[in-house]
Amino acid sequence: MLGLVALALIMASCCKETQNTKTMNTTMEDLMTRRSIRSYTDEMPPMEVIEEICEAGTYAPTGMNKQSPIIIAVTNREVRDKLSRLNANVFGKDNDMDPFYGAPVVLVVLADRNAAFTWMEDGSLVMGNLLNAAHAMGLGSCWIHRAKEVFETEEGKAILADLGIEGDYVGIGNCILGYVKGDYPQARPRKENYVYWIK
Ligand SMILES: Cc1cc2nc3c(=O)[nH]c(=O)nc-3n(C[C@H](O)[C@H](O)[C@H](O)COP(=O)(O)O)c2cc1C
Repeated sequence: MLGLVALALIMASCCKETQNTKTMNTTMEDLMTRRSIRSYTDEMPPMEVIEEICEAGTYAPTGMNKQSPIIIAVTNREVRDKLSRLNANVFGKDNDMDPFYGAPVVLVVLADRNAAFTWMEDGSLVMGNLLNAAHAMGLGSCWIHRAKEVFETEEGKAILADLGIEGDYVGIGNCILGYVKGDYPQARPRKENYVYWIK
């Protein structure tokens, strides 16, 4: 009897070790195979998938756990197109240019600059979680910049006001999401001397 219990305990511990190793390998693979996607199909990903990606974003570390960022998940075509237009306008492009590369979903990350000294770092880590979670869930993604300038415009501020968002929120980035269209990009070689060791 005692022997059987011991055997069960050994098997459980082996199983746990295999699971942990597997989880870690999958995470490592996802981190290294995520790429910025710049071509998307029109297909809208399921809401549950988008929600899960957002949830992963909310679990990013934040300075003193102040959770200074917010995520505005945009699946509404009209608002998505407005954000695209405002974004293009920031760098002087006309309305025909889509800086979101046709992606149907935009997750805008903003951070409250009064909530924590680390608001920018907090928001950037949320962006990182979103990008990596999207890849882990089988979606393409890309960080699109100029959220700061977009949410300084009257139209940008109106989007926040319509949602009842008050506070000194600064745009950190737009995480565009969708299904990859065409070939999956390859990573460029990493530069030399990226990592310095002190052993
Ligand atoms: C802060 C930041 C801003 C970025 N802004 C843009 C952008 O506006 N448009 C774009 O196409 N890609 C943008 N990118 C994506 C980078 O170009 C991309 O991460 C880089 O080329 C490396 O490619 P990879 O993500 O496939 O590894 C941005 C990335 C970061 C981190």
